[in-house]
Amino acid sequence: MGTLILGIETSCDETAAAVVEGGTRVRSNVVSSQVDLHAKYGGVVPEIASRRHLELILPIIKEAIDGAGIGLDDLDAVAVTQGPGLVGALLVGVATGKALAYARGIPLIGVNHLEGHIYANFLSGEPPEFPLVCLVVSGGHTDLLYIEDHGRVEVLGRTRDDAAGEAFDKVARTLGLGYPGGPQVDALAQKGDPAALAFPRAYLEEGSLDFSFSGLKTAVLVYLEKEKEADHPVNRADVAASFQNAVVDVLVDKTLAAAQRKAAKRIILAGGVAANTRLRSELALRARNLGLQVSFPPPALCTDNAAMIASAGYFTWLRRGASPLNLNAVPNLELGGEGN
Ligand code: KG4
Ligand code: ZN
Repeated sequence: MGTLILGIETSCDETAAAVVEGGTRVRSNVVSSQVDLHAKYGGVVPEIASRRHLELILPIIKEAIDGAGIGLDDLDAVAVTQGPGLVGALLVGVATGKALAYARGIPLIGVNHLEGHIYANFLSGEPPEFPLVCLVVSGGHTDLLYIEDHGRVEVLGRTRDDAAGEAFDKVARTLGLGYPGGPQVDALAQKGDPAALAFPRAYLEEGSLDFSFSGLKTAVLVYLEKEKEADHPVNRADVAASFQNAVVDVLVDKTLAAAQRKAAKRIILAGGVAANTRLRSELALRARNLGLQVSFPPPALCTDNAAMIASAGYFTWLRRGASPLNLNAVPNLELGGEGN
């Protein structure tokens, strides 16, 4: 049997635990979403998230261990999300991971949540080969990365204002859709015309690989307000499709530009927005036309989970060994930053 790592993830509103073998084989993957708890507030309430993590973390870990068909004794290490995320939420996972590692006498590995998203690409099919360009698009981040090898990450661009997922969530709210908005905009867009409305695309300065989505979000808002004032009926599916099209156009254009600039032959997607139907299909289509390889995790592994944390933990451990038992949660942990 390969190395068995327990992954723990509590950075936001999912309480998750998973067992991954050899960094790539998912033995179990348990995710308990708190979406229903936070839905009526229209977003995640940090204090509620921490309390819920505390109630769920031990049963979820037990479910992951049982689901893997192993016992606690079989674990070789524990990997836990150290940041970025909500501090109170992170602390639940970090404290649990430390206690487990100490009690069992096994290594503890602190993992960067964004690195976790990247390693979701190692959990199904052939692991991607380096070097590659990775677009990380989540609720909190939009980062375009050049990854030369495990642990060798160069940031090529990032958002200057809203993250892509944040834009989806905010536009969903103005369209009267629930939280989280991304999946609902995605579903509604499938019934609309992506060319119906010409929303702005922010490319920024010539050659820039940074992103900006706040102008687009405002444009959608202004459009909806104007139509309402004029008493015009609004085709919400067209709005969703046209907004999504504007986001995807910019994401795909810049990702392909990044791959060409770095002469990378492979592109991977990561983060919750990587589950987006149009982003996946457009990137795959346009990359293929350029002779570039594209891969992305299955949708369930794009959004927050602990299997990706266990995988990233495995490769982090190989590279730089275990973390000290005084590991702390770091709410604003940067990629490549090795806080303790
Ligand atoms: O990676 P993730 O699960 O959590 C963070 O680390 O932020 O990403 C959550 C984000 C949310 O903004 C959600 O609306 C968005 O990913 N998302 C989507 C889709 N599924 C999730 N956005 C667009 N299309 C989707 N299908
Ligand atoms: Zn995430």
